[in-house]
Amino acid sequence: NTKEDPDLRKPIIAGNWKMNMTNTEAKKLIGEIIPLVKGADVEVVVCPNLTCLAAAVELTRGTGISVGAQNMHWEPKGAFTGETSVAMLKDIGVTHVIIGHSERRAYFAETDETVNKKVLVALENGLTPIVCVGESLGQREAGKAADVVSHQTAAALKNVPAGKADRVVMAYEPIWAIGTGKTATAQDANEINTVVRETLAWLFGSEIADRVRIQYGGSMNAKNADELMAQPNVDGGLIGGASLKAADFSKIVLFGK
Ligand code: 13P
Repeated sequence: NTKEDPDLRKPIIAGNWKMNMTNTEAKKLIGEIIPLVKGADVEVVVCPNLTCLAAAVELTRGTGISVGAQNMHWEPKGAFTGETSVAMLKDIGVTHVIIGHSERRAYFAETDETVNKKVLVALENGLTPIVCVGESLGQREAGKAADVVSHQTAAALKNVPAGKADRVVMAYEPIWAIGTGKTATAQDANEINTVVRETLAWLFGSEIADRVRIQYGGSMNAKNADELMAQPNVDGGLIGGASLKAADFSKIVLFGK
């Protein structure tokens, strides 16, 4: 049980603000979050909309809070109207990027292949990818959750050099739990997170797999965070709705306290 060795995997709590918060609202929310999470012994990441990233980096400077983007393109530059390159994110001080969120897979035609290209580019350029995997309700009911998630994990991390694999953050987000108020039970979350770790061990060996943080996401909130975070293979949370309120988000960051 690696919870007994917290140095192995520092918990990581990230807020995915999705398409919420204008720049003005985002700055206010960050201002509220900063004092509430001061001194937290976990990695804290906020992922606001693209238009708020530069301001978020400035506001969080020196606070220990990191800033992540919600997406990026894999090409270094060129004629890709509306897209954002890794260099553009790095230039303004962004350190993390969510890749392959189920909403992007469902609404913006992301595939295991595009997810993989983005993961490789993030790692090559020193950004921390937060790689999302998770099954649909139909897949769960058909008993395929473990298979789907294992396959998505392997596909997302294809050709990742073993030497860089421990910089990846995985996020298990069952689609049926996202924005629905239906959280996976702590046992279900831990079971699939364990499948993710076993897949990582198969890909990179268990020593590396044991160092990768695996988040849970899907209706995680201030009430259920303690129980989820107590699971041996839940090393963090990717929070949607509850990350939009400073009081709720900070309670999750301070889980167990
Ligand atoms: P909710 O916390 O709103 O269910 O969203 C989870 C999520 O998709 C985070 O990426």
